[in-house]
Amino acid sequence: MDERQTLVNRPFPHPLVVGNWKMNGSLQSVHGLLEALVKLDYPQLEIAILPPSLFTLTALMRLNGSQVSVGAQNIHPQPYGAHTGEVSAAMFSELGCRFALAGHSERRTDQNESNAEVAAKCAAILKANMTPILCVGETFDQYRNDQTEEVIESQLNALLANLTEKNLASLVVAYEPIWAIGTGKSATPDYADRVHKRIRLWLTRQLGEEVANTVCIIYGGSVNSANARDFMVQSDIGGLLVGGASLNVSEFCKILDSASTSLLRSQEERK
Ligand code: PGA
Repeated sequence: MDERQTLVNRPFPHPLVVGNWKMNGSLQSVHGLLEALVKLDYPQLEIAILPPSLFTLTALMRLNGSQVSVGAQNIHPQPYGAHTGEVSAAMFSELGCRFALAGHSERRTDQNESNAEVAAKCAAILKANMTPILCVGETFDQYRNDQTEEVIESQLNALLANLTEKNLASLVVAYEPIWAIGTGKSATPDYADRVHKRIRLWLTRQLGEEVANTVCIIYGGSVNSANARDFMVQSDIGGLLVGGASLNVSEFCKILDSASTSLLRSQEERK
């Protein structure tokens, strides 16, 4: 396949680095982070942050005109209605959010979110003109028992009830092994890349090779400044989903440095 053609079709021509702040921060610390993020200048990267929903508007206002997009950590699949405490995809979209997570393992565990609910959320996010970042990944027991592929396949298969081919092609998929999240023990870059290739294969079965190759697949789970480069130089890792390390500006900037320099180097090597 013509590589240039593939790159032209990519929804994100550059690697995507997403900072998931989870339920962290105060007004004061959020202001501090935003003051640093507004100055970022990484033309080779797409950068997004996912603040706690209460800080979404603050983030959008401060980052307006910067290169950093804002997204939601979670949405309710209905556009509006009697769902106390929830926020819909349409509401985040109206504010100016570009992304929303679906199926983060912390929500699958804490809120018992099923694969079917996650699929419904992806459909709602797309309907609201945002890009879903669908998280998939296995537990440590499943990893140990060599069940990673089948777990991820069933998480992906659930999408087929809700999403059209066009919808599937618009997803960002985040491979996040649950045992690597917040533990300081990331997957090895080689292992992550192999799982990304299985995800790409599943997408190829649904969409054909040309379209499947345009889908952005990112890795998350204990990404830090010491390992970011090793992930980014893998052939099928299109970006990073960063939790804890995204709350520390200098650490996050080092990750962004690694992501952009590894990209430049691999472009050089391809010449
Ligand atoms: P971590 O979290 O980088 O702190 O492991 C990643 C995530 O949960 O998205």
